[in-house]
Amino acid sequence: MCELTGKVAVVTGGARGIGAATAKRLLDAGATVVIADKRLEAAEETADGLGDNALARHVVVEDSASVRALVESVAVDLGSLDIWVNNAGIVENALALDMADEVWNETIEVDLTGTFYGAREAGRYMCANGGGAVVNISSIAAYRATRPEHHVAYDVAKIGVAHMAKVLASEWASSGVRINAVAPGYTNTDILKEVGSSNPEIMSAWLAQVPQRRLLEPDEIAKVILFLVSDASSAITGQVIHADAGFTAW
Ligand SMILES: NC(=O)c1ccc[n+]([C@@H]2O[C@H](COP(=O)([O-])OP(=O)(O)OC[C@H]3O[C@@H](n4cnc5c(N)ncnc54)[C@H](O)[C@@H]3O)[C@@H](O)[C@H]2O)c1
Repeated sequence: MCELTGKVAVVTGGARGIGAATAKRLLDAGATVVIADKRLEAAEETADGLGDNALARHVVVEDSASVRALVESVAVDLGSLDIWVNNAGIVENALALDMADEVWNETIEVDLTGTFYGAREAGRYMCANGGGAVVNISSIAAYRATRPEHHVAYDVAKIGVAHMAKVLASEWASSGVRINAVAPGYTNTDILKEVGSSNPEIMSAWLAQVPQRRLLEPDEIAKVILFLVSDASSAITGQVIHADAGFTAW
């Protein structure tokens, strides 16, 4: 049901973590996958490890010219663009009263504006070429104030990308383009170490709030993304799937 043979996919921030796991899932389902990241060497290393149908490209998601160039090069080199996963993201902990302008601006630029540029440029191609599927990566932080760590810029960017999926789904439904969001819970990746998973006190505070009492693995998020870009979810657009071990359920 989640077969993707002949499809061309782009995963931003695909060099590691949830993005790399997603690239692997899409490849295993038969797609050709472009791993697009601001760290080109890391993207190349990941692509090399995933086989012949994985390619690496450089992208800086908050630079619209860079995103547009990526879409154009994929369309020319691979002849299509069917799937786009807006996965690249950053987070920095800071209390609001201590948050520097630079942290606010960079987080909004990468996580919110970068996701919009990806959706807009991929959507422009897909609307003109018969359809496609886009997934934005939101977060539990969009739906609950996280604790003990705080990062308001990230939180509002992540509710923004979830609502963006709803609005763009309504704009693009008649063109055959679906766009949804996934809101992951605490997932075992490098970014989470920066947020606090290397600190035992923070880890135990988190696990006390997670009904399944565990961190998620990147592949558990990748499987949800695979579902949302495949025909198995043909009826679903404009929705947010919470893949969070129950965190936002109660
Ligand atoms: N790990 C979690 O617990 C968790 C929870 C909820 C949501 N998320 C979201 O999932 C996504 C992936 O997170 P992850 O944990 O795999 O993170 P990660 O830091 O392990 O990987 C992120 C990747 O994005 C790339 N990237 C960062 N900024 C970029 C930019 N401006 N342009 C292009 N590439 C850029 C990085 O180089 C890196 O390869 C992010 O959007 C994150 O906010 C993660």
